Amino acid sequence: MAESNTDTKSSNQMWGGRFASGPDAIMEEINASIGFDKKLFAQDIRGSIAHATMLAHQGIISAEDKDKIVHGLNTILSEIEGGNFEFSRRLEDIHMNIEARLATLIGPAAGRLHTARSRNDQVALDFRLWVKEELQKTEQMLTGLIAAFLDRAEEHAESVMPGFTHLQTAQPVTFGHHCMAYVEMFGRDRSRVRHAIEHLDESPIGAAALAGTGYPIDRHMTAKALGFREPTRNSIDTVSDRDFAIEFLAIAAITGMHLSRLAEEIVIWSTPQFGFIRLSDAFSTGSSIMPQKKNPDAAELVRAKTGRINGSLIALLTIMKGLPLAYSKDMQEDKEQVFDAAESLELAIAAMTGMVRDMTVNTASMKAAAGSGFSTATDLADWLVREAGLPFRDAHHVTGRAVALAESKGCDLAELPLADLQAIHSAITDKVYDVLTVEASVASRKSFGGTAPSEVRKQIAFWRARN
Ligand code: ARG
Repeated sequence: MAESNTDTKSSNQMWGGRFASGPDAIMEEINASIGFDKKLFAQDIRGSIAHATMLAHQGIISAEDKDKIVHGLNTILSEIEGGNFEFSRRLEDIHMNIEARLATLIGPAAGRLHTARSRNDQVALDFRLWVKEELQKTEQMLTGLIAAFLDRAEEHAESVMPGFTHLQTAQPVTFGHHCMAYVEMFGRDRSRVRHAIEHLDESPIGAAALAGTGYPIDRHMTAKALGFREPTRNSIDTVSDRDFAIEFLAIAAITGMHLSRLAEEIVIWSTPQFGFIRLSDAFSTGSSIMPQKKNPDAAELVRAKTGRINGSLIALLTIMKGLPLAYSKDMQEDKEQVFDAAESLELAIAAMTGMVRDMTVNTASMKAAAGSGFSTATDLADWLVREAGLPFRDAHHVTGRAVALAESKGCDLAELPLADLQAIHSAITDKVYDVLTVEASVASRKSFGGTAPSEVRKQIAFWRARN
């Protein structure tokens, strides 16, 4: 039965003892995961080396067999890394592909590796290790994106732009302040990533099929060897838990949501109508028919990838809902969702970091837009409260009349003659013009977390020190 790889009629060499014949072709196709779980080869080999080393340390297998196993596994690692490994669908998954190859390489000692272990704790281990590494990579990439925003914020701590609510001009802000809003968002994402790494930092290996094992294994030893804080505490939960994968997808979905909001802003800002930024040639594309065009394709694709990531989150939640404890084969469908989302997320963060670093900021058009749309109306109302003692509601009403007048005259608030303003409210003096400029408006908003350049610089310093 050992050489059954090419014989489609024979039963599975790993678990086929009680089976008279091999699987139907459709059974093989629906059952196999090797097409995607081969991505876990390095984690699988690391896990097996740690397990075999522990088995020998505990006297469960001989030191000689352990040495053969470790040597064989390292050989397989270089074979796979070098592209010299033939994956077989008949062997279902990465675990059995590696174990079968080990048997060919080292003979009967290979059969001792699976002592006190099941594929249920093995796959839980491999996948956790993979997700942990992916989270660490995500943390670094988010740090890179945050750094890009901190640099742009520093450069533009004083550059005024219109701030929007309902995408209508609201109050002037600085571009630096706007950049720092994204620093806060991606900073929260990064801290979610850090918490997720803490949550998953427990080693599943040794839970075996679901009940633990009668062999005198040392789970603390394998946990330590594999870089986990400690072993998991309940063997049933261990083999049925995919929270770590769902948490990764939830974080990816939230981060994706942030990235797609940024993408949308980039799309809007780079239109000739807004003209706030110009994307670099490196991060835009042309049109095959309209020579004048420069399209923000990367931003649009980031916006779309977010939909894909959301799909993966919902898919895995739906796969897991209603599953009885402990392991069910449904759970094999966890990996493609996570792999696909991870690829999309990495690409999206990398593309955004590039766009933010490379884009040209058009401070002149931002400033012109900041001054239009009566963006300093609130400053006029605040002046009436402060200097003329009006209740804010009355000041709001008076300002509304001034806005209506300016609108009917086709001018800005700052361009209304004093006589006009005094006709609306007699307490207005020519001092009011000091607060009607966008620079004065922005500089006055010194409340903690406000848009004044001095505040923005404090927030930049906070984030630079935090990292
Ligand atoms: N390929 C399987 C998975 O990804 C490995 C675990 C199989 N366990 C089992 N009892 N059939 O979930």
